[in-house]
Amino acid sequence: MPQKYFITTFGCQMNVHDSETLAGLLTSLGYSPASLIEEADIILFNTCCVRENAENRTYGNIGALKALKQARPELIIGMCGCMVQQPSEVAKIKQSYPYVDLVFGTHNLHQLPELIHKVQTSGSRVIEVWDTDGAIYEDLPIRRAETFRAWVTIMYGCNNFCAYCIVPYVRGRERSRKPEQILAEIQDLVRDGVKEITLLGQNVNSYGKDLTGGERWNFARLLREIAYQTDIQRIRFQTSHPKDLSDDLIETLATEAKVCRHLHLPLQSGSTRVLQLMNRRYTREQYRQLAAEIKNRNPGIALTTDIIVGFPGELEGDFQDTLALVSEIGYDGAFTFIYSPRLGTPAAKMADPVSEAEKKRHLAELMKIQNQISLVKNQAFIGTVTEVLVEGVSERNPGMWSGRNSQNKLVHFKPVSQLKPGNLIPVSIISATTFTLEGEFLSSV
Ligand code: SAH
Ligand code: SF4
Ligand code: F3S
Repeated sequence: MPQKYFITTFGCQMNVHDSETLAGLLTSLGYSPASLIEEADIILFNTCCVRENAENRTYGNIGALKALKQARPELIIGMCGCMVQQPSEVAKIKQSYPYVDLVFGTHNLHQLPELIHKVQTSGSRVIEVWDTDGAIYEDLPIRRAETFRAWVTIMYGCNNFCAYCIVPYVRGRERSRKPEQILAEIQDLVRDGVKEITLLGQNVNSYGKDLTGGERWNFARLLREIAYQTDIQRIRFQTSHPKDLSDDLIETLATEAKVCRHLHLPLQSGSTRVLQLMNRRYTREQYRQLAAEIKNRNPGIALTTDIIVGFPGELEGDFQDTLALVSEIGYDGAFTFIYSPRLGTPAAKMADPVSEAEKKRHLAELMKIQNQISLVKNQAFIGTVTEVLVEGVSERNPGMWSGRNSQNKLVHFKPVSQLKPGNLIPVSIISATTFTLEGEFLSSV
């Protein structure tokens, strides 16, 4: 019987893409994907620790596997990713989850084959978590979830140390992949039929700063080289830190047709005082000017953002500053979070007199205002024709097909027999909701 694997992924696109590498490594060992978790011979949890609820959900999932492991002791249960980079979590797993056989960190992905072998031959639990900044391992096999769209990592780690954030502690310092490696990967993807790539990094705007020897690289240049040297049709990227967003990048966004008309630019707070406490290294005014400049030079660009409410010491006035800036900028969408204290970060030690109820009230108010804005932004597409990369049957709306336009809007349309995932098609938009557009395929264009 061929062995089967099942991977559950929490967290950001970095983790989603790391799971594609885990799947690639398992495939190279002869494993195939299981459709049900109960059928798997190895189960991996690729974890996230950016907020407490991500960790709680992981423990909930692992707790539910106890019976399965008791029934089939040969089953291997593994935990990897950001959560296990924290010694406190490894201690908790050791103590309370004896049936977890394998724990490996974000710098140990490439070792999966030998670690599985070790579990199988030793019969005891294997823990391998390096806390040094890992080298970059090129040429690991990747089993991608989609054929027409792909993630491409351009850099690992983060140097920013925003006061609330655990990522720099669990992902290490910034390391850029060499441009030749990135370009070669994208050329291979194009050859395999990929139409759209998303370049990944915690702060793509500092791409190249750590590359030594030879020519100087930066993110705008990388985008241009990808556009010129490959036949990829659409290029997306995330995430941009406002403090590092260059004029050159704003210009490249405006002039490179292959670069999608969407920028995710986390604001976090609209109050200069809170931004300072957060160690974001820009002021409200600087962000506002940056957003205005981007919109002036790129009419029609969609801006999205991340916002944290309830940072320690955030007062009513600070929150009102955020609301006012959100209304003024007019984001197409925003991910909004209640601040979650993370052990080892500076913010976790700050006094926080604001009640949880107050924070929830703020979050609800912010979401209400943002949803109104998102709806108006989406309604502006009604009556226009927008180009959509077909993804296939809609997850939310199984009777329909879906895809995304350049602005990253989710577009629904009725299934058309001659279309397949990966087609770039014109869609005439008829209606809009807060989160989606709906339209009809224009076959005659
Ligand atoms: N590198 C990216 C993504 C980081 S994590 C960036 O800088 O934008 C994604 C988002 O999670 C962050 O933008 C932030 O809004 C949120 N976040 C990070 N740490 C958090 C915490 N401790 N509590 C609540 N939200 C947090
Ligand atoms: Fe976290 Fe800030 Fe780095 Fe983003 S830029 S990963 S929020 S420390
Ligand atoms: Fe979570 Fe790690 Fe990403 S903490 S948000 S999975 S980098």
